[in-house]
Amino acid sequence: METTATGETGYVHGYTDREARRLGEQADALAELLHGGTRYPAGSRVLEVGCGVGAQTLHLVDGSPGAELTCVDVSAESLARARARVTAARPGARVTFVRADLRDLPFADAEFDHLFVCFVLEHLPDPVAALAGLRRVLRPGGTLTVIEGDHGSAFFHPDSAAARTLIGHLVALQAAKGGDALIGRRLHPLLNDAGYGRVHVGPRTVYVDASRPALVQGFIHDTFTAMVGSVHDDALAAGLATPQEWRDGIDGLRRTAEPGGTFHYTFFKGTAVNPPAPAGPDEAGGAGGAGGAAGQAPRTSGSTSRA
Ligand SMILES: C[S@@+](CC[C@H](N)C(=O)[O-])C[C@H]1O[C@@H](n2cnc3c(N)ncnc32)[C@H](O)[C@@H]1O
Repeated sequence: METTATGETGYVHGYTDREARRLGEQADALAELLHGGTRYPAGSRVLEVGCGVGAQTLHLVDGSPGAELTCVDVSAESLARARARVTAARPGARVTFVRADLRDLPFADAEFDHLFVCFVLEHLPDPVAALAGLRRVLRPGGTLTVIEGDHGSAFFHPDSAAARTLIGHLVALQAAKGGDALIGRRLHPLLNDAGYGRVHVGPRTVYVDASRPALVQGFIHDTFTAMVGSVHDDALAAGLATPQEWRDGIDGLRRTAEPGGTFHYTFFKGTAVNPPAPAGPDEAGGAGGAGGAAGQAPRTSGSTSRA
């Protein structure tokens, strides 16, 4: 993935105000669906990897108010937005923000008890290497939670060939930047290949019809259609669509939000454990089990930044 001087990567949806708003609306609309079952004990050290503008951070704070949360992102601009969002919405939350590339984290070995990674792997050219590298900062016995989408899971009524074509353009543009918008279906093998144990992946399906007006707005309009819309300029510049084809595709997506329309999309949520290193001949019975917390670095608290 390309990285600019300011730390921004070739993130397919860009770092605009509109994208920041979309990430917030997406996280709020899907909070129950995606965060259900994720609770961290008071005092546990949690690293949110690729926190973006802090949209998921608020829900992590709400679900685990006693945890010590550290959030990293490669984008300085997103991190500034995240800090402002969390400080305004959850004053007093114990969150530390650190600008870093997840492939080169400035933390001690085994510094964290839990890792949380949401909608990040889909943008990385080598997700197995990234996941394997993250194990260094996760204590043996610590847990990883990963959430990803899969654009192949989108189907809707009324069907629209023009809308499906646009979704295909988004998948192609993301692939051209080294990502994979169909990564959800690969989560289980990716986690196993990266060396995690006790891997469990389950579908988290969002289904929308007119009886769920909050999701009509929050998912069909503000999350999915806005996400496809974010690659308008790139798709036209690449010659993938004409302006008219683009309008037809977006109209097709919007029609699913009208009375009688329906929309289906599946996210995938994985959990896994960092296996304890095999004990050497001199280490049998030594440190490194589920209660181990080796290599702790000094920590800060409050909505502060080490960037
Ligand atoms: C789709 S956003 C998701 C943000 C947040 N997790 C959420 O769900 O709202 C992906 C984020 O991953 C970050 N990212 C991509 N590559 C990264 C890397 N190598 N190291 C750290 N962050 C990265 C991007 O800057 C972006 O903020």
